[in-house]
Amino acid sequence: MGNDQEKEAAARASLQFIKDGQIVGLGTGSTAAHFIRLLGEKVRGGLRVRGIPTSEDSRRLAESLSIPLTSLDEYQQIDVTVDGADEVDPQLRLIKGGGGALLREKIIASASRKLVIVADESKRVPHLGKFPLPIEVIRFAQALVASKIETLGGKPQLRIKSGAPFVTDEGNHILDCNFGKIGDPSHLARVLSDMPGVVEHGLFIGMATTVLIARGTEIIELNP
Ligand code: A5P
Repeated sequence: MGNDQEKEAAARASLQFIKDGQIVGLGTGSTAAHFIRLLGEKVRGGLRVRGIPTSEDSRRLAESLSIPLTSLDEYQQIDVTVDGADEVDPQLRLIKGGGGALLREKIIASASRKLVIVADESKRVPHLGKFPLPIEVIRFAQALVASKIETLGGKPQLRIKSGAPFVTDEGNHILDCNFGKIGDPSHLARVLSDMPGVVEHGLFIGMATTVLIARGTEIIELNP
């Protein structure tokens, strides 16, 4: 079974968490896109939900599938969000943001009663840090933040897309920071959150309520 089939299998397994009448956070990335497409099928079959997308890409996809959408302006509590991850460790700590949507993803996750993470087996790691940590920064401060990250032992790289700096949905840039193995993710998360110029970082700690990993045809459910 390939990665993409595993991603779809994990996304399909997450549908059990979605109930009629709920407000549903719609994640970003290729695995979350499988979820949105499958949710679209359910909506066509009569399921009544309203989605809140974590990115403009996911908004466009949901709209193309006629999934009714709402926003945080209308609802400040989300029943369940389904999203992907770049890495998941045994304590269900995550690195997210490979798709560049970490800021809205974390805001939506923080407003969700349940955060269901869907991923293929390759995302499961013993320690976070092989995947460079995405850090969303204010453009004005990006050089300053990059030099501070170097003093923390990280190797920051400005994310480039089509020859120009990648711009997030909120108009910021992203530094992809290679820290190697992150020994104390909670400590690093606090240090980064306290750094002026950092808008948000991709460490999601204590947020996932369920992780669904597809390994071949098997679905492994992990809970904190
Ligand atoms: C988007 O910003 C990310 O947090 C994604 O959820 C993460 O990069 C996983 O993406 P894939 O599902 O495409 O692997």
